[in-house]
Amino acid sequence: MRSLNFKNKWVLVTGASSGLGQEMALQLASKEGANLIITARRADRLEQLRAELVKNAGVQVKIIVADISTNADVDRIIKESTEGQELYAAILNAGITYFGEHKKITDADFDRLIQTNVTGVVRMATQLVKYFEENGREGGVMTVTSMATLYPVPYQALYSGSKAFITNFMLALSQELTNKDLSLTVFAPSGIETEMTQDEKFGGLKKWLMPVSQAALEGIQSLKFRKLFYIPGALNRNGSRFMKLLPRRFILSTMAKTYRKSLGLPH
Ligand SMILES: NC(=O)c1ccc[n+]([C@@H]2O[C@H](COP(=O)([O-])OP(=O)(O)OC[C@H]3O[C@@H](n4cnc5c(N)ncnc54)[C@H](OP(=O)(O)O)[C@@H]3O)[C@@H](O)[C@H]2O)c1
Repeated sequence: MRSLNFKNKWVLVTGASSGLGQEMALQLASKEGANLIITARRADRLEQLRAELVKNAGVQVKIIVADISTNADVDRIIKESTEGQELYAAILNAGITYFGEHKKITDADFDRLIQTNVTGVVRMATQLVKYFEENGREGGVMTVTSMATLYPVPYQALYSGSKAFITNFMLALSQELTNKDLSLTVFAPSGIETEMTQDEKFGGLKKWLMPVSQAALEGIQSLKFRKLFYIPGALNRNGSRFMKLLPRRFILSTMAKTYRKSLGLPH
């Protein structure tokens, strides 16, 4: 399968109003010459990004203001992304976390996380795969999960579970494709410097964060070169290999200790 070439092709990026999604949109336009469909809830941020992309990269940009925690908005994103232009690739990046003791999560936060990270992403991926399977054209769909997929993070238990769900779903689905020119990619970063990790609660953990520009670059490359599962950062990839040699209980309790400290909980 040849690598993807985004030049003058339409690429959908969810969660493009900040962080990794915004940076991937910027790099897709400036380095790859892609036309973009950018979506998120904050319209002002998307307008700002569109103006920057059009001015600096000279690409075409379409905005869809939508909340992926609702089925109606997910369906609208897919409809508007696949009608009026030919969609070439999609990066399902939007996501949220809950950082703290799981017993303290509210019902509203619980529902919001599952609907955003799981239901919304699975619904979108399902419709996108159907689109490419039916038209038989070249393309790629990438979901942004997390290294928490492999090494669940205590005090982000629901988040870890949601990302593992998407990883397993995508890996399994990748083997059902009949369109040989379509690839599915799971991009699984460790911590990144974005709004998600701005919270004071991340305190001492902030020194481990990867610059968002590097994460975005590696994300685009993994989609472009049709990686099935990719962890950005050599340190993270090597660390992941090493961690496979350690007992799971030891890894989990060490992480729990670090996170308890960061959250100011007794340790
Ligand atoms: N930062 C990290 O350490 C890290 C590590 C591993 C994986 N990740 C993953 O990377 C992805 C991007 O996160 P980030 O770090 O860039 O965080 P971020 O800066 O908080 O960006 C999250 C994006 O998702 C959008 N979003 C959230 N809820 C949404 C909803 N209901 N509907 C539509 N859009 C929604 C936000 O836009 P609006 O608020 O405007 O809707 C925003 O554009 C996430 O999937 C995250 O889990 C992050």
